[in-house]
Amino acid sequence: MRNQIAAANWKMNGSFSKGKELLETFKENFNSLPDFQQIIIAVPYPYLAWASQYATSFMHIAAQNMHHQTEGAFTGEVSAPMLNDLGINYVILGHSERREYNNETDELLKQKVELALKHNLTPIFCCGEPLNIREAGTQNQYVQAQLQNAIFNLSADQIEKVVIAYEPIWAIGTGKTATAEQAQAMHEHIRTCIQKQYSFETSQSISILYGGSVKANNANEIFGQTDVDGGLVGGASLQANEFVAIVKSLVA
Ligand code: PGA
Repeated sequence: MRNQIAAANWKMNGSFSKGKELLETFKENFNSLPDFQQIIIAVPYPYLAWASQYATSFMHIAAQNMHHQTEGAFTGEVSAPMLNDLGINYVILGHSERREYNNETDELLKQKVELALKHNLTPIFCCGEPLNIREAGTQNQYVQAQLQNAIFNLSADQIEKVVIAYEPIWAIGTGKTATAEQAQAMHEHIRTCIQKQYSFETSQSISILYGGSVKANNANEIFGQTDVDGGLVGGASLQANEFVAIVKSLVA
């Protein structure tokens, strides 16, 4: 069974007290999970060290980004070794908001993914098409190019350590979720691309999360699709009860 993952992306939202309330609620609600289920909470940088105390064998704290170099004169940036120092194991890379507002390209993300793996950080690599591409019907080629340019340079051993998040940009924060069929179709496509580049075994071993307006009331249906292994959740992860219900929707 592939790892089933409910990942929260707080983005630049909340506060220390709000974060504390969320993490304490998650801790109370989840004493244990089956081996193949994981919760990942991506908190803003200033809260990483503190949030790490809530980490367990099944609840991990993640960074929302990291720099593509290990050290240097890069004001305001955070390096992979710094995340290692805090015992952080996961990092979101290539979120569409960073691609758009921080000009992150596939070429840059390729460097970040390689560096993360070198430092034993599991990248949650985001891909997904904007609305105009979906409307033109070329989303499969678009996402395939993102994979090709940013992660298909990896060896099979390396890519098996990556978590992929498919996040159609038109569904992020818009309340407009991809239908379960649209999510399944793209996840299947991503798996086929991996199979062609690597092997069937590799394609079957990688967790592919869906992201884009996942809520408690649609998580069951989306997570129930054959090639969907959980979700990357923004807005709904800031409401304790919503996210608890989303975690409970993971395939058991
Ligand atoms: P959303 O965000 O759940 O608020 O749509 C998802 C994401 O950006 O990861």
